Amino acid sequence: MALLTINGGRVLNGEIECQGSKNSALPILAACFLVRGKCEIHNCPKLSDIEGTINILKSLGCDVVFEQNTIVVDSRNASGYEIPEELMHEMRSSIIFLGAILGRSGRAVISTPGGCDIGLRPIDLHLSAIKKFGVEINEEHGILDCKCNEGLKGTAVTLSFPSVGATENIILAAATAEGTTTILNAAREPEVTDLADFLNACGAKIHCSSGIINIEGVKSLHGASHNVIPDRIVCATYLCATAVTRGEMLLKSVIPAHLGGVFPILDEMGCDLKVGSREIRITAPARLKKADKISTQPYPGFPTDLQAIFTTLACIADGTTVIVENIFECRFKHVPELLKMGAHIKTEGRVAVVEGIPCLSGANVISTDLRGSCALVLAGLCAKGTTVVGKINHLDRGYENFDETLTSLGASIVRTEEAHEKEDEKQTGANNSEQR
Ligand code: UD1
Repeated sequence: MALLTINGGRVLNGEIECQGSKNSALPILAACFLVRGKCEIHNCPKLSDIEGTINILKSLGCDVVFEQNTIVVDSRNASGYEIPEELMHEMRSSIIFLGAILGRSGRAVISTPGGCDIGLRPIDLHLSAIKKFGVEINEEHGILDCKCNEGLKGTAVTLSFPSVGATENIILAAATAEGTTTILNAAREPEVTDLADFLNACGAKIHCSSGIINIEGVKSLHGASHNVIPDRIVCATYLCATAVTRGEMLLKSVIPAHLGGVFPILDEMGCDLKVGSREIRITAPARLKKADKISTQPYPGFPTDLQAIFTTLACIADGTTVIVENIFECRFKHVPELLKMGAHIKTEGRVAVVEGIPCLSGANVISTDLRGSCALVLAGLCAKGTTVVGKINHLDRGYENFDETLTSLGASIVRTEEAHEKEDEKQTGANNSEQR
């Protein structure tokens, strides 16, 4: 596993383009299996989660080529319906294949998914919705055998919470089901709309409007080309990296409207934002101001995926910020690491009270999850002295060339393999040469 050594205190300045959205690309790639055609998906970021999804597509029998941020998936001859347990465990979004495989084959054998350790993350909403299509689910030893002998039948689903993944799974199951499906209290995230746009380009009939989604099932879908939307979370991450280092940056290839829940907080914290149709320029203040309250909500509210990152901003802001995590029950694992850097944070349940201090101090910290890792890197960028962030494999799940991009903006970051791993490799190398 790699680690990052960051010499803090460098101001970030410059101009970058935002990568495509991981959370859009993942369900769209799963949808390629449903399509039974050849699809070209452009603007896909090069990430370990994308590689994991490609491995699932290949295990199902698809031909997949990934070149220059374009993934070509040919699923015409694919006949698989089972996802190997080790591939399911790599990431939570593997659950999205359930709707796609059932929609295509009428049978799916999967296991419970993995992903970041940020709470219980059950899949009950996915499973109860899928059952409504006439699917029978048998669970034994963590393996789910899902069958529908007579073809999926459109249905009405009211979600008790607007789960992003469950909404996407229902869309995938419904796209080629017989009859019409309606989802009430559906997730409104831009990634859900992007999936619907892709499927519509393939011949589906999906209409999304204010939390209500209507899907008229079609007999079959055809291949299409699609451009994945820019990653709003990555975009906000770079805005925040600029904010903590008192820099100035122009971020291009973005959709500013997707950050409507974030701009008011950056504004409250004293950042100057100039928003164009596809770009954002940020100029940070000499010292960030507190935000009264940051409360995570489903889209269009403030995203849970930015909670950890804004905790870092609050750590060095002038005043006290209250952060409330409403989406996941266990998403403050970055806090003990930030405390090692001198932060003043108290947590109780889903609330963190962050008393800003003028400067954090460099320390050795460990990544806990994807966005938590990012919060630690940003803390390292603005801290006095050297910060070493361990286990940064989490980071590579969501950010394409993160350290290189930050370096291009003026940061001092070096990536190395962890020492004990080097020793392990030496040992393995020695063993291999002995065997040879
Ligand atoms: C997606 C995003 C993730 C983001 C999250 C919330 C992807 C690949 N990941 O995750 O980055 O943090 O949306 O914006 O798109 N829940 C249940 N039962 C279920 C499903 C969800 O109780 O069957 C709960 C979860 O435990 C969580 C909440 O609902 O507390 C939100 O989860 P959900 O919207 O489903 O998130 P994901 O789709 O997993």
